[in-house]
Amino acid sequence: MAFVAEPVVGATLGAVPAVDGYFKTIQEICDHHGILLILDEVMCGMGRTGTLFAYEQEAIAPDIVCIAKGLGAGYQPIGATICTDKIYAAIKNGSGFFQHGHTYLGHPMAAAAANAVLDVLLDDNILENVNVMGHQFKHALDTKFGQHTHVGDIRGRGLFYGLELVEERETKEPFSSSYYIARKIKAIAKKRGLLCYPMSGTVDGKIGDHILLAPPYIINEAEINELIGLLADSLEEALQSPEETL
Ligand SMILES: Cc1ncc(COP(=O)(O)O)c(C=O)c1O
Repeated sequence: MAFVAEPVVGATLGAVPAVDGYFKTIQEICDHHGILLILDEVMCGMGRTGTLFAYEQEAIAPDIVCIAKGLGAGYQPIGATICTDKIYAAIKNGSGFFQHGHTYLGHPMAAAAANAVLDVLLDDNILENVNVMGHQFKHALDTKFGQHTHVGDIRGRGLFYGLELVEERETKEPFSSSYYIARKIKAIAKKRGLLCYPMSGTVDGKIGDHILLAPPYIINEAEINELIGLLADSLEEALQSPEETL
């Protein structure tokens, strides 16, 4: 049996970290019952939240971790599954056979690109920029949108943040799903030169909206300010557009 989770939930919830102590408790339960702890760090891993693995901030040690996007810096298609020596040995000393192939499994060019990405990430101390700029990013988001009537929550870590979009900030009442607020913001922001990741159904699969922001690790202060300005303008334009238009 296994417990699978994203340490910071990405696309589906919008950069939501777990509450303090949650993963520690989960690990204890898993250890107690012999359940594998599998973490999906496809989106939040490889430095996105300020540490190479997002789970490091939870002070836990999973059995298996899945990584992808940031491993190729978002450009080189590559994914990887990392496991503990114990699991590796169980397969090696068991059947010795792991039938889980794809046409391009273990592709040398993709692996070389990922290796180069890791070299830059670790040797050039890129994560320091993620942390320093991440701090400024959070501050800028809080300053600009913290009291906004239609922003219900701002959450995330490192350079990975989500804005929950609501009809009314105090009550957190979601927008009508026919308003398509998240998709509207995305379309308007794209025209203005900002890429963001919209998602709806955050509350119950139907209603609830958020947008996800995941700027490059090498972003600087001026670019953060530009991002915030573009997002603010896009949000205002989206709020002014009538219902059911996109
Ligand atoms: C958190 C998370 N896990 C898994 C996946 C799927 O990854 P892949 O396309 O490499 O199978 C995604 C894709 O967006 C993701 O965001």
